[in-house]
Amino acid sequence: MALNLLVSLISILISTIFPQSRALQYPQDGFAFAPSRSLIDSIAPTTSLTSSTSISPQTSPLVPALFIIGDSSIDCGTNNFLATMARADHLPYGRDFDTHRPTGRFCNGRIPVDYLALRLGLPFVSSYLGQTGNVEDMIHGVNYASAGAGIIFSSGSELGQHISLLEQIQQFTDTYQQFILSMGEQGAANLISKSVFYLSIGINDYIHYYLRNVSNVQNLYLPWSFSQFLASTIWQEIKNLYDLNVRKVVVMGLAPIGCAPHYMWEYRSENGECIESINDMVREFNFVMRYMIEELGEELPDSNIIFCDVFESSMDIIKNHESYGFNDTTNACCGLGEYRGWILCLSPEMACSNASNHIWWDQFHPTDAVNAILADNVWNGRHTKMCYPMHLEDMVGRKET
Ligand SMILES: *[C@@H]1O[C@H](CO)[C@@H](O)[C@H](O)[C@H]1NC(C)=O
Ligand SMILES: *[C@@H]1O[C@H](CO)[C@@H](O)[C@H](O)[C@H]1NC(C)=O
Ligand SMILES: *[C@@H]1O[C@H](CO)[C@@H](O)[C@H](O)[C@H]1NC(C)=O
Repeated sequence: MALNLLVSLISILISTIFPQSRALQYPQDGFAFAPSRSLIDSIAPTTSLTSSTSISPQTSPLVPALFIIGDSSIDCGTNNFLATMARADHLPYGRDFDTHRPTGRFCNGRIPVDYLALRLGLPFVSSYLGQTGNVEDMIHGVNYASAGAGIIFSSGSELGQHISLLEQIQQFTDTYQQFILSMGEQGAANLISKSVFYLSIGINDYIHYYLRNVSNVQNLYLPWSFSQFLASTIWQEIKNLYDLNVRKVVVMGLAPIGCAPHYMWEYRSENGECIESINDMVREFNFVMRYMIEELGEELPDSNIIFCDVFESSMDIIKNHESYGFNDTTNACCGLGEYRGWILCLSPEMACSNASNHIWWDQFHPTDAVNAILADNVWNGRHTKMCYPMHLEDMVGRKET
């Protein structure tokens, strides 16, 4: 297939542009793969771009820390350290970020967790693999998110290495151990239970697993039962986090990728119509998740778990784009081909001159301007009600019971 050929060509191109990623050949199969800080230290030279991105917050923090688990919607540099095609450590990524440099964020500027960290009075959270490993650097939070990762272990593995959901939770367990060593069991439990966990994962299980019909999955599961399966895995993982004293969790729903430039190109959308069959799957997943999260919140004592429906909020932005200041809802700012959705964003020449009137930055990811709106909606539903049963501001403002 032409696409496979293209993917091979691009991977050759990428390994030429980023030869250092070849030096990091971890075994990809097997559950043991979860690089620890010390392993990374011994292999990778410390060229951490992320360390320069911390911004001092003005207010005193509302919570001690923000911990982040997920995929490319919130990866802030994990994949810079992995041998993968899914990377954003080159311009034009980051060109509108605070440092105007690429960091690994899949965006021209900030990702939602950057805006939310500032809302919480915290500095930007840096990636687990990109920091020094000192407890002082992790005390305001750690970002474990890895582009390409899904809920299913092998989702996204055709892109190269990633840190899957279970591996990210394993890395968090390591962080927790370090906290215990430095502040004692009680201190660590106290810090974790007061901190916010942000979980944004699942889209790659559609993009790289279900929609590609991996292992004949479309014959074995209808979209509805596939979403039930994914949701039950999330349910189990949140319970595991709860056992590690996690109490405040934000679970993000999935975005309307049926409107993403990649699928608009692949399904040959006419006149910029979104691909409804894909959006229907996402809508179903979000529906299942919303009710599951509600039940889970009732089941786990003293927990505060909220679900934020990215789909509804994003569709509101697309529909009312003019009032939000967007005049291009279908074309990526950076990419090539129809809707600029055919080839991923590889170089500055492939990008539009000003991303601020675009909804889509590249073939799958929204612009900084959209991330700002989504973050506002997670915080307090400023533009549209997005989170259930409450918004993040109400969650962190709650008195301990
Ligand atoms: C999925 O793949 C299987 C073979 O692996 C094939 O028999 C089936 O028709 C495919 N389903 C769809 C909907 O393409
Ligand atoms: C959007 O507006 C900018 C200037 O404000 C203009 O240059 C651009 O052509 C417009 N794009 C579309 C798709 O109308
Ligand atoms: C992009 O356009 C917006 C308004 O359309 C403007 O406010 C902003 O300064 C522009 N940014 C750049 C980098 O030119």
